[in-house]
Amino acid sequence: MASVGNKVTKFKPGEKVFLATDMSLGAHTEYKCISEDYPIARIPDGMSFETAAAIPVGGSNALHFIRKADLKPADKVLIIGAGGSIGTFAVQLAKLQGAEVTCNDKGIKESILRSIGADYFIDYEKQKWTKLKQTYDAIIDIVGKSTVPTLLKLLNQKGRLILGNPGVQSLIQGLLLNKKSDKKIVLKLASYSVEDYNYLSELVLSGQLKVIIDKTYPLEQIKDAHEYVDSGQKAGHIVIKIASDND
Ligand SMILES: NC(=O)c1ccc[n+]([C@@H]2O[C@H](COP(=O)([O-])OP(=O)(O)OC[C@H]3O[C@@H](n4cnc5c(N)ncnc54)[C@H](OP(=O)(O)O)[C@@H]3O)[C@@H](O)[C@H]2O)c1
Repeated sequence: MASVGNKVTKFKPGEKVFLATDMSLGAHTEYKCISEDYPIARIPDGMSFETAAAIPVGGSNALHFIRKADLKPADKVLIIGAGGSIGTFAVQLAKLQGAEVTCNDKGIKESILRSIGADYFIDYEKQKWTKLKQTYDAIIDIVGKSTVPTLLKLLNQKGRLILGNPGVQSLIQGLLLNKKSDKKIVLKLASYSVEDYNYLSELVLSGQLKVIIDKTYPLEQIKDAHEYVDSGQKAGHIVIKIASDND
């Protein structure tokens, strides 16, 4: 925290904090002015800026989706888009619930996903996975490219379908089908809270949750960072490091 206003009571200059800012059209920036009432968490001792930076968006959304999936030990869960920033957290949080986790993503992400607990892997580019016979107790679709009826066919009775990135068609289908089916379709999006940030930090510090950082770029190389993300090779997170960070 570079400085605080004269009415701020919760924070002091120099404190290390992390948060997710609202989505807004803008650019990458070194400084942002934000209300002290916003969900802002302190970076715990022993955690780097890079690790803390990767937690808020991916971690909070994954935690929200996993809670909505209501997993019991040995439940089968399919995570679509498992290799990304939300997915790599969701896989590990599902394993912590004792679930059997099937990851769906591009083939190059299989090894990292296996290393964080994936029991099964589906390469979405090579397998006609929507035609497979396997069904699941919960499906977390982080990507949003499959239709609701297609996903419901892969869901067991009383299963939970979590739509993490629903388009308009899926939103309408979800609302309509929810009333008719004993399968539950969850459309609610995540919100951010200091409690969730602290909970995720504790899991990370205790070694129960790994923050998957594929690459770190200095702000000056932001173009390269975007090009790498656009190349489709990224697993987990890309972190942008600001030169003034001194952790
Ligand atoms: N609901 C919410 O509250 C919320 C919040 C934040 C973000 N989101 C949305 O959630 C989505 C995921 O976010 P993220 O940060 O995890 O993104 P990300 O890091 O880009 O991860 C997405 C992953 O899905 C993979 N993927 C792409 N197309 C796929 C397909 N057809 N089948 C299976 N996997 C596929 C990607 O791999 P390749 O592209 O390399 O194939 C990548 O590994 C984004 O669209 C974002 O806008 C939602």
